[in-house]
Amino acid sequence: MNTMEHPWRRPYGGYHQPRGLAPDDELTRVGPGTPGGEYLRRFWHPVAMASELGDAPLPIRILGEDLVLFRDKSGRAGLLHRHCAHRGTSLEYGIPMTRGLRCCYHGWTWDVDGTCLETPGEPPQSRLKESVFQGAYPVHELDGLFFAYMGPPAEQPPLPIFDVTGQPDTKAATFSILIDCNWLQTHENGIDPVHAAFLHARPGATSFGNVFTVVPRLDLMETPTGFIVLTTRRWKDKVWTRASESVIPNLAHIPMPFENGEHPRMFGRAAFTRWVVPVDDTHNIYIGWRFFSPTLDPFGKGNPARCGKNMIDFPGQERERDPREAQLDPGDIEAQVSQGAIVVHAAEHLGTTDRGVLALRRALRQGIRKVAAGERLPLPASPSVDGVIPTYGHDTVLTIAKQDGDESELLDGISRLVHSTVITSADHPREQRHAWVEKRVREGIARL
Ligand code: FES
Ligand SMILES: [Fe+2]
Repeated sequence: MNTMEHPWRRPYGGYHQPRGLAPDDELTRVGPGTPGGEYLRRFWHPVAMASELGDAPLPIRILGEDLVLFRDKSGRAGLLHRHCAHRGTSLEYGIPMTRGLRCCYHGWTWDVDGTCLETPGEPPQSRLKESVFQGAYPVHELDGLFFAYMGPPAEQPPLPIFDVTGQPDTKAATFSILIDCNWLQTHENGIDPVHAAFLHARPGATSFGNVFTVVPRLDLMETPTGFIVLTTRRWKDKVWTRASESVIPNLAHIPMPFENGEHPRMFGRAAFTRWVVPVDDTHNIYIGWRFFSPTLDPFGKGNPARCGKNMIDFPGQERERDPREAQLDPGDIEAQVSQGAIVVHAAEHLGTTDRGVLALRRALRQGIRKVAAGERLPLPASPSVDGVIPTYGHDTVLTIAKQDGDESELLDGISRLVHSTVITSADHPREQRHAWVEKRVREGIARL
């Protein structure tokens, strides 16, 4: 039978719809020993904001593992398996010591690397502590986020430092939002920019500016660390072109959400950098930095005070909403969570606007299979001349006279010019990139 003739591909075919389709376990499962979980364990991930950790240990769950993050009284951070290796009491009740974390139950004390420092109830001559270890992972604190590496120690890569870190005159506010669905559908939201023209631009909706109502021209370009999904729109006498960057596996650098397309802007860098980190198969945290500076936020619409635990300063990301309000004005969270706890890829019907989603799934599957075959992953990215990894997420607004008729070719040409220039500019030190991009783009526009 021709697949077009299947009874579910006909009007009133509800009864015949395929049932019981299963999620793609290879891409979506994250626990220890699963192919996807093993792959994700080869990368550093942010696991908590520094602001979440007070004097007491912080219980967290990452990649399906229950853990406890703590800082000992010497200021060293540690990430331990949550249940004490003695008899399983949760170390969330542990006592931070000058060195290590002391279990509340029998006082066994664990160093940040899991070494047992003390078993105080055992006889003084006991050598038990030399042979027991608490599961531990390396952690690193960077600009208000704790990063952890949960993979095999022999394969630990250096913590990647991107050029979004340490930008001059820029404040980085941290945020971490718990989302009740599989990590992949949350990550896919960020590389599916066409949704902004619908979800965030519904008539009467509060979400984003009018320029988002224009359905963009779409494109995709590879970068050394993943790919950028490009959207280009005509708006009055301006052309606005924007790149949402996906760094494999779960990182994105995303431009300003408040763009109105009315003012020229050249190579405006990412307004936020965020990872989607699996908590377990059906929950994730959307965690990262929101950047503020006069150039990153020219309209002064951002608000660092509204970034933090379960909040960020633009619409559509609130967890707890009045259901009626959410129905009238749904945001990213409603769109993702309502796809299901784990979206079933076999039930989807992807279109041309899903190029980013397909590119991501392809790249993830390749990586997962490499790890499953026992291969070592290449380093995710090489630093540029100034020791940081270049990023490509950005937006540019140009004044370009409107042409008569179909402008598709013009818009695609501008998109290619701007974004290929931005990719090439990565060879330059970061403080020179802006001027270099501006010069090349102006020269290129003059030739169009
Ligand atoms: S259970 Fe932790 S010291 Fe006994
Ligand atoms: Fe969105």
